Amino acid sequence: MSLLQQRQASKTHLLNAESRQDIDRWVAKYPADRKSSAVMAALRIAQEQNAGYLSNDLIEAVAEYLEMEAIAAYEVATFYSMYDRDPVGRHKISVCTNISCMLCGSDDVVAHLEKRLGIKLGETSDDGRFTLKEVECLGACVEAPMFEVAKTYHGNLTPDKIDKILDELD
Ligand code: FES
Repeated sequence: MSLLQQRQASKTHLLNAESRQDIDRWVAKYPADRKSSAVMAALRIAQEQNAGYLSNDLIEAVAEYLEMEAIAAYEVATFYSMYDRDPVGRHKISVCTNISCMLCGSDDVVAHLEKRLGIKLGETSDDGRFTLKEVECLGACVEAPMFEVAKTYHGNLTPDKIDKILDELD
């Protein structure tokens, strides 16, 4: 088999060197015959490498790298809201609308974000800056209502506080 054919058959080359290093660190936390235990971390790493979303090829590359069935990686990638399967904006705002946040005003948070950004939940702004996502409980109910952006939780949200957070994003 030529080198070209090998590369076409294998998708692991889609994971860059930095991603592989990061994934290897996670793999090392588990027994040698349980590489697939690192799948959640590996998918997150692959997603970060790819501007915030997972293509089918990347999911399959992760599965191959971890020596697991592709379908098992797809099951994880399609179950958890932290993974995105379509291109996203530079800033992904994940708004919790679960029970505690709902009772504390997440409807108002969503309405304010939608008005300010000119997009609805599930959409990305035309300039590619923002994606607005509805997510389930992020485990920060004590600060409801809350959202997460750039791996940072923001709680006890008010319109003024939301505006300040958005103004600080590039
Ligand atoms: S319900 Fe929103 S963080 Fe738990």
